[in-house]
Amino acid sequence: MQAIQVHDKFFEPYLNESSIAEKVRSIADQLNRDYDGKKPLFIAILNGSFIFAADLFKSIAIEAEICFIKLASYKGTKSSGQVITAIGLDRDLYGRHVVILEDIVDTGKTLNEFLPQLYHQQPASLKIVALLHKPEATIYPVEVDYLGFSIPNKFVVGYGLDYNGLGRNIGAIYKLVE
Ligand code: IMP
Repeated sequence: MQAIQVHDKFFEPYLNESSIAEKVRSIADQLNRDYDGKKPLFIAILNGSFIFAADLFKSIAIEAEICFIKLASYKGTKSSGQVITAIGLDRDLYGRHVVILEDIVDTGKTLNEFLPQLYHQQPASLKIVALLHKPEATIYPVEVDYLGFSIPNKFVVGYGLDYNGLGRNIGAIYKLVE
């Protein structure tokens, strides 16, 4: 695999398509075992997770639902700071086994601020699946229950992840050349 250019930056190959596919299948296998008979509700967080969520969900062999939400953050009052709201969350989570599908946990801010809103609806359980995690960048505590790859604190594109809107359609994952 060759280095690629997205906008003004160069990215080098990092995770190839077959290693991603293998990891996605192994996460799906664990979920198939852990959620058998629980009819989980998967909530995929757009935009970045759309390819990961689709691939993962194809390997889910148990009864399960999926929905897609978008998170929007806006400035709240001074005391509340940034407020995150979910667009498209039209399911009642009460008593459900909820599984969040996220592309990447970076600082952890997004999930750290959003998860309390979900707990508020009293799901039976709430777990996080993330394809990628940058532990060195994480400053807001987020417990990832099912992780694909732990990666260094480098910007990555491909497999749904973008750099300023481009790169989501690249099948493999590339990391920034610095
Ligand atoms: P966090 O709130 O800092 O954990 O950021 C999470 C979101 O930032 C992810 O869902 C991605 O959309 C975006 N993000 C973080 N790191 C990267 C990256 O390396 N490439 C592309 N998007 C990223």
